[in-house]
Amino acid sequence: MIRAAILGATGYTARELLNLLLRHPEIEITALTTRQDTRLPVAESHPSLRGRLDLVLENLPLEEVAARADCVFGCLPHAASAAAVSELLDAGCRVVDFSADYRLNDPQVYAKWYGVEHPDPRRMPETVYGLPELFRESIRDSDLVANPGCYPTAAVLALAPLLKQGIISPKGIVIDAKSGISGAGRTPKPNLHFPEANENLTAYNIGQHRHTPEIDQVLSVWAEVETAVVFTPHLIPMDRGMLSTAYAEPVRDITTESVLQALSVFYAKEPFVRVVEHSPSTKDVVQTNFCDITARRVGGKVVVLSAIDNLMKGASGAAVQNFNLMYGFPETTALL
Ligand SMILES: NC(=O)c1ccc[n+]([C@@H]2O[C@H](COP(=O)([O-])OP(=O)(O)OC[C@H]3O[C@@H](n4cnc5c(N)ncnc54)[C@H](OP(=O)(O)O)[C@@H]3O)[C@@H](O)[C@H]2O)c1
Repeated sequence: MIRAAILGATGYTARELLNLLLRHPEIEITALTTRQDTRLPVAESHPSLRGRLDLVLENLPLEEVAARADCVFGCLPHAASAAAVSELLDAGCRVVDFSADYRLNDPQVYAKWYGVEHPDPRRMPETVYGLPELFRESIRDSDLVANPGCYPTAAVLALAPLLKQGIISPKGIVIDAKSGISGAGRTPKPNLHFPEANENLTAYNIGQHRHTPEIDQVLSVWAEVETAVVFTPHLIPMDRGMLSTAYAEPVRDITTESVLQALSVFYAKEPFVRVVEHSPSTKDVVQTNFCDITARRVGGKVVVLSAIDNLMKGASGAAVQNFNLMYGFPETTALL
């Protein structure tokens, strides 16, 4: 059995992760952390776990986390995460980090977009990006996997194969994406209050969203040339689910059928990517680790649509997929 700890266990991604780990035959959950000193049963924070997990939330020193766990899932916000993760790695733990801290390879790019100096810049250049469909072999051998952001997961899975195969141009890519409100986490913020968010659709962080350099970093690897996407995220009044619509220039004249065929071949062996002919819908993927993708040739553009659950393929499902790869378990364990 692999002993697993969760940092930031009171949050949304941690709740989803706990639901998955309880189904995993090779995991024993041994520590759940919080900043609070009250030692509440975890079911007080996540009532859906009542009767299923008899553990308390603890404000544990990191040495104690390392003593209790082989693998740590870091569900903390950025900056707080790297400060903890670096110590846990030094203590011999393997880590799947949900935060943005180890996704970017360049400390200067991180400082520019996140507004803080990275607490552990030394590890950034070599960290493995945890998108199994694109970086599976590197994930297997890694002690630190940077779980991707939810928007980058949806956009990159849609675009990377088409860039790799020279079907779309790396120039002029536009990504318009919508996320359910759980994408912003459990910590309350004014714009997430029900009267603000309900019956409302709004774009935010236009041209400034922190997932932009992450999308460009990964797409640039697959395009073998630097991309500079225009990415506009929107908040949509749903609990969970994400739809990304990307627009790109075709490199040559190409039909809808050929684009779908290219995507189907690329993902033929992938257990969690479904290339579909219909328009993907968040309702088809919520509570699952699937990413549904389709494409159309429309006028002078190729339009690629992808749907995921931001808390599953966009966070906790991907983390379990990465964990399975790191420890040599079948990749779909606890996920299908
Ligand atoms: N939500 C998504 O769809 C999604 C998708 C992909 C990636 N992520 C990333 O996953 C991480 C967790 O996201 P989430 O949605 O679960 O967030 P969340 O619901 O806000 O939970 C984060 C937890 O971390 C703890 N925390 C908050 N600030 C902290 C600090 N400064 N130092 C230490 N602990 C702190 C809090 O627990 P206590 O108050 O109990 O200490 C909180 O419950 C974030 O880095 C996020 O960007 C989220």
